[in-house]
Amino acid sequence: MRVSSSVLAAASLLATANAAIKGFNYGAQFNNDQAKTRVDFEYEFNAAKQLPGTNGWTSARLYTMIQHGSQNTVIEAIQAAINTNTTLLLGMWASAGQQVINNEITALKAAISQYGTAFTNLVVGISVGSEDLYRITPTGIENHSGAGAQPNELVNYVQQTRAAIRGTPLEGKPIGHVDTWTVYVNASNNAVISALDFIGMDAYPYFQSTMANSIGSGSQLFFDAYHATVGAAQGKPVWVTETGWPVSGKTLNQAEPNAGNARIYWEDVTCQLVKDNVNLYYFTLQDVQYGNPVPSFGIKPAGDLLQVQPLFDLSCPASAKPSSSVSITATSRSTGLLTGTGSSTQLTPTISTTTPRTTTVPVITMPAIPRGLPEPFEEPHLIVPVDKADPSKVVGDGYTALLSPTVSTIFFYDVGPAHQGKTCTLVFHVPPPFKSSEFAPVHIRAPGGISVSRLSNQGPAEVSTIAVGNSTPVGVVPLVQAGNQFNIASAPCEAGQRVGYQVDSLYGLSMDWFQMTNPPLGLFMLVS
Ligand SMILES: *[C@@H]1O[C@H](CO)[C@@H](O)[C@H](O)[C@H]1NC(C)=O
Ligand SMILES: *[C@@H]1O[C@H](CO)[C@@H](O)[C@H](O)[C@H]1NC(C)=O
Repeated sequence: MRVSSSVLAAASLLATANAAIKGFNYGAQFNNDQAKTRVDFEYEFNAAKQLPGTNGWTSARLYTMIQHGSQNTVIEAIQAAINTNTTLLLGMWASAGQQVINNEITALKAAISQYGTAFTNLVVGISVGSEDLYRITPTGIENHSGAGAQPNELVNYVQQTRAAIRGTPLEGKPIGHVDTWTVYVNASNNAVISALDFIGMDAYPYFQSTMANSIGSGSQLFFDAYHATVGAAQGKPVWVTETGWPVSGKTLNQAEPNAGNARIYWEDVTCQLVKDNVNLYYFTLQDVQYGNPVPSFGIKPAGDLLQVQPLFDLSCPASAKPSSSVSITATSRSTGLLTGTGSSTQLTPTISTTTPRTTTVPVITMPAIPRGLPEPFEEPHLIVPVDKADPSKVVGDGYTALLSPTVSTIFFYDVGPAHQGKTCTLVFHVPPPFKSSEFAPVHIRAPGGISVSRLSNQGPAEVSTIAVGNSTPVGVVPLVQAGNQFNIASAPCEAGQRVGYQVDSLYGLSMDWFQMTNPPLGLFMLVS
């Protein structure tokens, strides 16, 4: 819950302004279970830095501190990272009980004393666990994904890790956890989020096979997941710790694995995340050595990593489209397809589909050029993103309004008593594209429109107890575009009342914004 204010929005934007981390995920062993050695890691880290069309892929996410096949010997990736100046998101394997984490902590401490600041200066974060909470969900169990960990166990392991690095050069490095995005929107796991400094999110639209998951929907599904996670993250930073599109494998529902689609996903998701300065570990650089995983996510085919070309073009559009403009549809771009086949060991859950709400409301809006906000007007006093399928379920606490096929946002206005006898007009302002997409307070991630409904409920005292009651449709904007003011509906002002409106995404719109008055951005009530 919050009072809408551009000050808050600005503070929140500044928090994302640091240069983001770009890296890949690196397993401890090859497909044939052979352990990777220092030379193997060095080779991969160097290959990542030399990918044609890219720069700055200089970070490595590890799953464990332990050299594969040993009990608690330090993984040779640490020496390789030092030798290649590669930053590290360390991983502590946290499933299957206390002894496992004891071994991880032993190796972590050994690395600190063995390598000192040559090692610790490279560490950008520590993840305690990887998909442990996914593996204990019904989907994880059904998929035989292996042992996991309970939320209280993970909280305990996070505390043990904090204690282990206290007084060492790693003290103060952010400690997080990596899991599938579905885990974070499950309130049973809130205590884990509370224990963390950052949230590591894995999301794979390819695996969301109960939904429309063609490559054309890939970006939307990904950013829906991202926004839902941000909404659940208790204000903590969300790092994208795994995402990608397979280059080969089985078609899952509408998701076809091939290099051309992986290129589209790279452009729509990877390039957008890079542009938005989100810390990112792509899955993955190469997964086909000594085996042929199905599906395969590797961007490099089998062969000499430093020589073979990536399977698709990895460059991002030179004049990247501003993220506040409507994104290009997947079919209209070149695929940049080069050659080859590719691999993976990650399993992610399928997501249950929510029934889209159909709308029969007549279109009553007229786009117009924005001219600022004429006084008097009402700002919303509450902005509450909710689960569209169950609007009583709050998915965020209000810095950002979120719209997607699965997330709606509710706005409450306290209409001033002085507006008695006046007309109140609900207006949706979308400013022209911003020069720097990095600082843009609005992102239209996938095109579409909105529908707006008046809630019967008077509004909550607490967001957590929101009960929206019935809603009555009042207006539709069929296509939301930057640089427009959309008049939704006019009615006599309900002076002295608190009134609420629910805004739903239509036709696939995926959008988020920080409500502000200058320039006008978001849903306002103009009084005339
Ligand atoms: C290591 O990489 C960082 C950037 O990630 C750079 O600033 C630094 O100069 C590099 N150090 C060496 C010794 O190359
Ligand atoms: C929600 O989280 C709890 C605790 O991690 C887990 O036991 C439960 O299965 C999860 N529910 C779903 C539907 O995934």
